[in-house]
Amino acid sequence: MRVLLLGSGGREHALARALAADADVAVLHAAPGNPGIAAIAVTHPLDLADIAAVTDLARSTAADLVVVGPEAPLVAGLADALQVAGIACFGPGAQAAMLEGSKSFAKQVMTAAGIPTARARTCVSETEAAAALAEFGPPFVVKADGLAGGKGVLVTGDAAAALAHAQAAGTVVIEEFLDGPEVSLFALTDGVTALPLLPAQDFKRAGDGDSGPNTGGMGAYAPLGWAPPALAAEVVASVVQPAIDQMRRRGTPYRGLLYAGLSLTAAGVRVVEFNARFGDPETQVVLDRLASPLAGLLAGAATGSLAGAGPLRWAPGAAVTVVIAAEGYPAAPAKGDPIDGIDHAERIPGAYVLHAGTATDAAGQLVSAGGRVLNVVGTGPGLAAARDAAYQAVGAIRMRGGWYRHDIAEAAAQAGHDPAAQAGHDPAAPAGPSPGAGASPAPASPAPASPAPASQGGTSRGTQPGAASAQTSASRAPAPPPGR
Ligand code: AMP
Ligand code: GLY
Repeated sequence: MRVLLLGSGGREHALARALAADADVAVLHAAPGNPGIAAIAVTHPLDLADIAAVTDLARSTAADLVVVGPEAPLVAGLADALQVAGIACFGPGAQAAMLEGSKSFAKQVMTAAGIPTARARTCVSETEAAAALAEFGPPFVVKADGLAGGKGVLVTGDAAAALAHAQAAGTVVIEEFLDGPEVSLFALTDGVTALPLLPAQDFKRAGDGDSGPNTGGMGAYAPLGWAPPALAAEVVASVVQPAIDQMRRRGTPYRGLLYAGLSLTAAGVRVVEFNARFGDPETQVVLDRLASPLAGLLAGAATGSLAGAGPLRWAPGAAVTVVIAAEGYPAAPAKGDPIDGIDHAERIPGAYVLHAGTATDAAGQLVSAGGRVLNVVGTGPGLAAARDAAYQAVGAIRMRGGWYRHDIAEAAAQAGHDPAAQAGHDPAAPAGPSPGAGASPAPASPAPASPAPASQGGTSRGTQPGAASAQTSASRAPAPPPGR
């Protein structure tokens, strides 16, 4: 199989690594890629917003399969254009990608399909927004309707800030606050069949202890030893399959990866959001554990032939990824800082380094080129060993101004939520009695990495630091730079 992978972040480096390791992949092209991806794929400069140029590259590389990493090209209709060109594409068409592209559309689909989620109102005026805020009460959750690059959501106890965010964003979804640990569950789907991957947890806040501003994600781990063993199967039954069936009934079948962002509340599982692509950085740990070859699965999803592809095989043990971010991230990341020590980091047993925001300068030196610069992955028989490997490797890397969280997977590892050997573990195994909406059990134990509710800490998640969130964005300086 000839594969063209699109994107340039840590998620795409993880995808490239899994595809390059797959014996079915004869040639791997990537665009635009990054220096890490360039070491294992043939890279091409490309503007992913230029759909005609992407289609041309897919043709000129004779790609059997195009794998789309980020959401924007999907929402812009890239998968539709490739379909017209007769090229198989992993990723939904524009209308199906609206599950991520419009929060109000996602709510409509969830309501129609009976999927458990926060009660919500779509508001287009200040009067409507004020009424919805009064209806749901604090903590207030206000979400810009469209794609906002991770900056559209505000969670705050401050009613005036909530209203101001609603006014600035235009059309918003205002919804009830969901209180519970967050889990990311990814499912591969061909529009009919759903194949869940290993549930993972992301750390969205910049600072240790879930302090500071929201980010794209500062680290992740899998598997979740503390989660109910049947979680993936339950979520497929109550969330993923109903969503896929609903999209098919609407005449806009969803093919690719459906990312369900979940809150495990005391009342059961609730959907926080849908995304139309692999999560970043959760993918880095989930694909690390995937023992089944990836390319055939992605091709099966793209071509409507996923039935019979499961069950998936998972490597025993655990993976933890720690993001090394640039000075100033997330507000105004510095660029061009030299990066050294990756070779030393990769000599730590069980550790390796994925490139997320890197470039090579004119002198050939590796430099930072984005907010999240590197994803250091540690693996081991359990979370504690995987953490040790990841943090030892982080310590070997030198980058001026670089910083990272110190507590990725810490609570789960300390609480003894170290996974037992999980060889052959199939997260899609039958879940026993099929739960109805909202009937899933609460997590077995208090959730590691569940951010404090806004009512306890005065939080603003998913907003730009400084905007109505002074107490969080200024509350704690980011962790010190690695290697000091
Ligand atoms: P989203 O862009 O929808 O993923 O939202 C960003 C983050 O905001 C999520 O990861 C949650 O931490 C938080 N969030 C979104 N919706 C809610 C909600 N209804 N209740 C509590 N937190 C939420
Ligand atoms: N890690 C969160 C996301 O990919 O949206």
